[in-house]
Amino acid sequence: MTTTTAAPIKTLDKDGKEITTVGFDRFGFNCEVSLDVLRSLYLRPHYVLTANDIKDAKEETSHAQFTQGADYQSKSIYHPDTKTISYTTLSRFPPVTLLAPSERKRILVTGGAGFVGSHLVDRLMLLGHEVTVLDNFFTGSKTTVSHWVGHPNFELIRHDVVEPFMIECDQIYHLACPASPPHYQFNAVKTIKTSFMGTLNMLGLAKRTKARFLITSTSEVYGDPEVHPQTEEYWGHVNPIGLRACYDEGKRVAETLTYGFQRQDGVDVRVARIFNTYGPRMNPFDGRVVSNFVVSALKGEDMTVYGDGKQTRSFQYIHDLIDGLIALMNSDESRPVNIGNGDEFTIGDFAHLVREIVEKVQDEDGVKRTRQVQIVHEPMPSDDPQRRRPDTSRAKETLQWQPRWTVRMGLEEMVRYYKAKMEEGNL
Ligand SMILES: NC(=O)c1ccc[n+]([C@@H]2O[C@H](COP(=O)([O-])OP(=O)(O)OC[C@H]3O[C@@H](n4cnc5c(N)ncnc54)[C@H](O)[C@@H]3O)[C@@H](O)[C@H]2O)c1
Repeated sequence: MTTTTAAPIKTLDKDGKEITTVGFDRFGFNCEVSLDVLRSLYLRPHYVLTANDIKDAKEETSHAQFTQGADYQSKSIYHPDTKTISYTTLSRFPPVTLLAPSERKRILVTGGAGFVGSHLVDRLMLLGHEVTVLDNFFTGSKTTVSHWVGHPNFELIRHDVVEPFMIECDQIYHLACPASPPHYQFNAVKTIKTSFMGTLNMLGLAKRTKARFLITSTSEVYGDPEVHPQTEEYWGHVNPIGLRACYDEGKRVAETLTYGFQRQDGVDVRVARIFNTYGPRMNPFDGRVVSNFVVSALKGEDMTVYGDGKQTRSFQYIHDLIDGLIALMNSDESRPVNIGNGDEFTIGDFAHLVREIVEKVQDEDGVKRTRQVQIVHEPMPSDDPQRRRPDTSRAKETLQWQPRWTVRMGLEEMVRYYKAKMEEGNL
């Protein structure tokens, strides 16, 4: 494992102000937590390298730069010679806010072991709520939330949302659904079942328990849009029989179902239309552009741009999304709300930015490169939208939400996360 000086990383927002906390106190729900504490959950390995490393592991791993002051650490030991791991539980859980029973909510997060879900769970747990995660681990992994297993406020249940499920709860964040094209195309029929039957089951639960229900819909409901940027009023331009239809149409019908339950049964619903989001814990091999580029560049392999690279995308950092989801859940806004970052990049420019940041991090850490990574072009897959950018005026007006993280700052954190994973032999 590389030894690095544990200098704290300074993260600046779009206005150049330092980010030390994420979240805010809004709509009667305080979701502010320290960035260092959050980082200690996703930028620290869930094991140490050898028994001897235990006492000074905190200072000597690349992750240590992000974990200033956190005093809990898994004592699980990885033995590189035999490639085995001796698991133990955490000696101490991260401290969570002690809420009065009247303030503490029982929150169900479906898909809580996935990329977005696990960050939402971290936030809700640190805030002191009771969190139940429902996941079938299709694309998610227990390791993303293992640091909470055993905590009295936390429950992890293996369950497929296609089957009904009963629990008492106050809020439901319904995320369960594979989100990356290779994963959702792997079994298209199952993806549609998850979107339709999973949402039907969770709406039924919300109806019975009178819980507030939030579904994570997607910018894919706009398809290959003819309107730029996309407002929530735009109905979309979707190919109903293309390769992406199982996901796009699945989410569209899930939204229809959600508003059906609102109109017919008075279920209290929230619909978040999420645009491209990236950050630590993204599956490095899920085929999405950010992880593809970062992993290739870190491995010194060529970065592949599909088409001429002129198609544009906007990228939002995970903490901005979690802020937006929590604000929406606790607000009075029941119309669909776009949550995304409007800064538009061509894929070609984005590839250059990723390469520049990977080189910067490698230079800072004294990693020698044998050659510069090349950016190569391949034909465009079918149905890949040319352009997509959110109009987030509604989120700004009704949630007082707007992204704080620059793509550059988010990318740097993500590069460091994947780099540390590579050093552990985990990538
Ligand atoms: N990440 C993005 O950029 C993005 C963009 C738009 C929308 N979204 C939406 O956000 C949600 C989370 O996305 P993510 O990026 O974290 O994806 P992810 O694949 O990392 O997480 C999805 C989680 O749902 C679980 N899951 C899948 N099918 C299930 C089923 N039938 N029953 C129970 N659990 C199931 C998976 O195991 C995984 O833990 C999804 O609903 C996705 O459509 C994400």
